[in-house]
Amino acid sequence: MAGALALAFMVAMSAPVSAQQPSSVNPTAAAVKEQQLLQQLKAIQGRGTIPDVKSYVLEHPVGRDWQQFHNVTLRWIGGIAILGMLAVLLIFYLSRGMVMIKSGRSGRTIVRFNSFERFVHWMTATCFIILAVTGLNVTFGRPLFASTVGSEAFTTWSEWAKYAHNYLSFPFTIGVVLIFLMWIGGNIPNAVDVEWFKRGGGIIGDDHPPAYRFNGGQKAIYWIVVLGGAGVAITGYVLMFPFYGTDIDSMQYAEMIHAVVAMLFVAAMLGHIYIGTLGMEGAFEAMGERAVDINWAK
Ligand code: HEM
Repeated sequence: MAGALALAFMVAMSAPVSAQQPSSVNPTAAAVKEQQLLQQLKAIQGRGTIPDVKSYVLEHPVGRDWQQFHNVTLRWIGGIAILGMLAVLLIFYLSRGMVMIKSGRSGRTIVRFNSFERFVHWMTATCFIILAVTGLNVTFGRPLFASTVGSEAFTTWSEWAKYAHNYLSFPFTIGVVLIFLMWIGGNIPNAVDVEWFKRGGGIIGDDHPPAYRFNGGQKAIYWIVVLGGAGVAITGYVLMFPFYGTDIDSMQYAEMIHAVVAMLFVAAMLGHIYIGTLGMEGAFEAMGERAVDINWAK
């Protein structure tokens, strides 16, 4: 790649640059500078003799738009989504507290998830958390702690993080497919869910609307995981195998979709983790210990 770029750069500097826009710069002049070309022509491209035609374009405006998205817009989207969700959860916890089992515990339990279901859940969750941390490192790592830990340590960590992000994508994708298949039966939306949402789901207010195996909120989480998981997986593999049927533009779109879906996905999962732990008495036992209290189930 470096060789190809260097070659293309030399070609670009010596061969005529395609001059779509009128310009006062003579691109073939011996003394012309790269920066001058960029300012006048908005792109630096030329002709080459190697088969990789992408390498004939060294700099172009769309690349700068993408860089602006990656370094500025995306950081705002991610920051607002993730910190905003944490703030909402904190306020909610301070004002509502833990949702308790109204009639107290019965002392008798009922199996909610078998070992296979729990294995798939925790495998996917573990991969998700590592994918989220290592992905967020690509977006926020450099401005947040590269200068604190030093560039050498940051580079070493980022290299390992990148390996983890690539390789854990496979068990994560398998997990999302298994989640889709094993719980689709209980997650088709119906009229009971509409009623459940209208009545605040038992979380907002003190009502206790009925539900089948999964309530409206749990179904929403299921579809966020299935659709969000499919979204990050498809765009993620486009990024992981660059230029297989894609060009620079579609690679840039893939990165933008991947990153935005990932940020919203992380925010949604923070809500899920909250309800499953601090937010509701007895909920963690379903995945932690396989069985829940009968009164919780009711
Ligand atoms: C099948 C699953 C996934 C695959 C194949 C995948 C693949 C990739 C690849 C190849 C990159 C580019 C990394 C680079 O620039 O070196 C990336 C970036 C990223 N990924 Fe994933 N990923 C997957 C799942 C996830 C998940 C589940 C999350 C978060 C919950 C996530 C969050 C991110 C973020 C935030 C970035 C950085 C975006 C940026 O700043 O450019 N990814 N991913």
